[in-house]
Amino acid sequence: MTRLKTTYMGIELKNPLIIGACNLTLDIDVAKRMEDSGAAAIVFKSLFEEQINLESLQMEEDLSEYAERNAEMVSLFPSLEHAGPQEHLEKLSQLKASVDIPVIGSLNCINHSTWVNYAMEVEKTGVDALELNFYANPRDKNQSAESIEKEQLDIVKEIKSSVKIPVSVKLSFFYTNPLQLISQMDKLGVDGFVLFNRLFQPDIDTDKQDMYSPFNLSSAGDYKLPLRYAGLLYKQIKGDICSNTGILTGEDLVRVIMAGAQTAQVVSAVYKNKVPFIDTMLSVLDQWMEQNKYNSLDDFRGKVSKINTKDPYAYRRAQYVDLLMKPVEVMKRYPQV
Ligand SMILES: Cc1cc2nc3c(=O)[nH]c(=O)nc-3n(C[C@H](O)[C@H](O)[C@H](O)COP(=O)(O)O)c2cc1C
Repeated sequence: MTRLKTTYMGIELKNPLIIGACNLTLDIDVAKRMEDSGAAAIVFKSLFEEQINLESLQMEEDLSEYAERNAEMVSLFPSLEHAGPQEHLEKLSQLKASVDIPVIGSLNCINHSTWVNYAMEVEKTGVDALELNFYANPRDKNQSAESIEKEQLDIVKEIKSSVKIPVSVKLSFFYTNPLQLISQMDKLGVDGFVLFNRLFQPDIDTDKQDMYSPFNLSSAGDYKLPLRYAGLLYKQIKGDICSNTGILTGEDLVRVIMAGAQTAQVVSAVYKNKVPFIDTMLSVLDQWMEQNKYNSLDDFRGKVSKINTKDPYAYRRAQYVDLLMKPVEVMKRYPQV
């Protein structure tokens, strides 16, 4: 599968499939199996500021308070109270030493100084790159969007001048204009953009009439938002686009690359179908390329991006407006309604 070779943030990869940050990457045996199945790189699960605070405070009983502050972290990682930052960094070094493929460290902090200090700590583990896991999950009605973005831009700027390894930013979709923020970060020299994180969302149990934390994975079709943004950003920024969320099949890989992605991060597909499915996804991509006579990813990357598509409306309009203009076509598609 040599035709699948690519680069990401200047790092050579054997193919575009990267395992995104998740609990699977904590287990070295699973990580090695993912490497054997073809994964081109692995993002180690994020080091969260709550872990750092917990270790320095050494107050595990405070976890419930942190749980309220950061539902995403505690719900996804219920055993985090036992993993402080030192243990996390040691595990990250161990992973780096155990696999031959590139390893990317991931960080999710709150305070400016913690972001910068731990970016340098993560770099010291010998990882190949650093991913900054940003999300603006609005909780304070008095905080302006501008102030959230300014803080994130300041953090990026300082981290970029503090570490030598490539830095990517993983964003949630919840910004008024993600394109503008991405463009500003791009100007600061961010090497890659992981678009987009799928944030944990709590749910309500109708029997218990209470909140609960589902282990929610992505669903078929969720790749369409990342696809849209890969298509919009292709050749518009210097940083590499790494599509993420809902890339569940080999065909989804083809789609996001055709829109303009350099690489893709995959998590739910592995949870749902087990580790050997990585090889299945890559084989589908490889066979599709063979059938279509493409010898490299660059031969079709961005072919259906905004700048290359022949349909002027494809990336400009919201889909429903477009469909509204063609009511007859819609009725033909859904004749049973
Ligand atoms: C169990 C689990 C743990 C995760 N942990 C992290 C994490 O530590 N840091 C992070 O940036 N994203 C984390 N994520 C989000 C994934 O990296 C990814 O962005 C998301 O699942 C969307 O990709 P997918 O559709 O391939 O699952 C986690 C996801 C899951 C399901």
